[in-house]
Amino acid sequence: MIAKKRDGQRLTPEEIQFFIDSYMSGETADYQAAALLMAIYLRGMDDGETQALTLAMARSGQRVDLSDIPGVKVDKHSTGGVGDKTSIALIPLVASAGVPVAKMSGRGLGHTGGTIDKLESIPGFRTDLSVEQFKHNVRTVGAAIIGQTEELAPADKMLYALRDVTATIESVPLIASSIMSKKLAGGADKILLDVKWGEGAFMKRAEDAVQLAKTMVAVGNLSGVPTRAVVTDMNAPLGRTVGNSLEVMEAISVLKGQAPEDLSLLVRYLGSIMLTMAMEAVDLEAAGALIDRLIQSGKACETLERVIAAQGGRAECVNNPSLLPVAREQRTLLSDKAGWVSRVSPMCVGRTAMSLGAGRRKKGDNVDLSVGIVLLKKPGDAVERGEPLARIYGATPSATEDAMESLATAFFIQDEPPSLTPLIYQEVQ
Ligand code: URA
Repeated sequence: MIAKKRDGQRLTPEEIQFFIDSYMSGETADYQAAALLMAIYLRGMDDGETQALTLAMARSGQRVDLSDIPGVKVDKHSTGGVGDKTSIALIPLVASAGVPVAKMSGRGLGHTGGTIDKLESIPGFRTDLSVEQFKHNVRTVGAAIIGQTEELAPADKMLYALRDVTATIESVPLIASSIMSKKLAGGADKILLDVKWGEGAFMKRAEDAVQLAKTMVAVGNLSGVPTRAVVTDMNAPLGRTVGNSLEVMEAISVLKGQAPEDLSLLVRYLGSIMLTMAMEAVDLEAAGALIDRLIQSGKACETLERVIAAQGGRAECVNNPSLLPVAREQRTLLSDKAGWVSRVSPMCVGRTAMSLGAGRRKKGDNVDLSVGIVLLKKPGDAVERGEPLARIYGATPSATEDAMESLATAFFIQDEPPSLTPLIYQEVQ
């Protein structure tokens, strides 16, 4: 199989199934799996091979059965970025429209954050529910969120760890099978994917993100789970906050109608698509209007309180953000010149947040939920010399000072107003 793929040939579904089975059992060694992954990385896979790989990985563990929960369950997944807290706002928003949400999310790795880490900054919030408890909460509260379990697509867990150390992450068939195997095992009726492109994303070029989106949509649809994708911008951090508790606060501000424009727009757009996928009689415009009403009436905020309480968290934090941890050491980064902000590097902001302790360098590292960055200027904003660009929240004076230095390199300021890349690039279905 390694030689076949090295020479650019197609693998059969039986061969792919054998690879997953034998890797799980230990019969195929890590070095052989790594060689095959590199051959796939270099030679690619067609949609049929990618689907066979996805299904073999999905079948390596349990498939959650949500069929006894009434209603169309729509799952949403982002390929990952910096400041992407949309899921935390979307879950209660969509649930408050009466659409059940059963969401499995991941932790952050590298420069990108993860929904599970962010939610754990809410005092008491548990993300390790059993599958039974998870389903119970979806049925009674309308929404629940858990971290990946050992039983769900365990082949992905093994392969992802191997890819992480063999330079084989950024491959369309490997990312598509990794994400879609978990989504299919999660048991939702329909799937919406937010595929990020840009400097802060896995896919640096929009064309590659579109290809990834098309591949994942094809795999979902071929597997009998209607799937749609939107390709969106990750050339700047989303919203103004990066760091776990700070991002939860900003997600809550979406539900209060007080969030930055890019974040509010993306939540409204993704939420509208999720509602139209679940409620066939509703069109995009009506779904958007419904979302506005759910925010204005306070219903979405109330649903978030119920979701938090049902998972053991302190629901009062929705109206009292001071209950969330915020690091004491604070510094403000000032602009050394006047002009317009043309770029805020998501990679640099993400890495600076990670160096403050908001993320992990490797699996198993501890995360400091209280540290992070608030961007006071975003691309397109005018800035005066000496005006604040960002505020840093760190655990120690020296870490905060180091972060000031590194964050200064994230901001690019020019004399003319910049032209910016659009937030929504393309829809794929
Ligand atoms: N997220 C995943 O779950 N897998 C990948 O390969 C990339 C992003």
